[in-house]
Amino acid sequence: MVTRTRQGQTKAAQGASRRSTPAVLVIHGPNLNLLGTREPEIYGRTTLAEIDRQIVELGRELGIKVETFQSNSEGQIVDRIQDAGAEIDVLIINPAAYTHTSVAIRDVISAVEVPAIEVHLSNVHKREAFRHHSTIADIAEGRIMGFGADGYLLALRAASRLICAKRKNP
Ligand code: DQA
Repeated sequence: MVTRTRQGQTKAAQGASRRSTPAVLVIHGPNLNLLGTREPEIYGRTTLAEIDRQIVELGRELGIKVETFQSNSEGQIVDRIQDAGAEIDVLIINPAAYTHTSVAIRDVISAVEVPAIEVHLSNVHKREAFRHHSTIADIAEGRIMGFGADGYLLALRAASRLICAKRKNP
């Protein structure tokens, strides 16, 4: 449940403005644990561990506390976003195959009211028609796709801008 203060701020927004160090959660959906060996001609050869290392390092440079989480299970992804709720300023998410099917992931992003950035390694619009639909595209702050692992770093820079803008103008 999203609880609003008398000023109409969500709990998530309140939590974010109280914290001194901004926090971002990065979620990787199903089969992204196989990066490095999974269809490298589409997804590249960088492993998930290397991607996570780069994200956390950039987070340190930008002064953002970054946590990463991968799961092959829709329910675990929903639970992780619910748990993060008021603790994070921005969610960066590559829902992988769940992008195209999951109402549950869309609903939890709406429920926690945390700005979300959607990332895909590949440009899904250059691929099969079933990948063109995303259940979260219209509730995301923005979408980054087609730049491989760099997409996560671009997303973190975008998140940093969003956080600065929100803190200046809550
Ligand atoms: C993906 C694209 C999805 O269509 C696919 O199911 C994935 C990865 C991407 O990052 O390009 O698993 O989200």
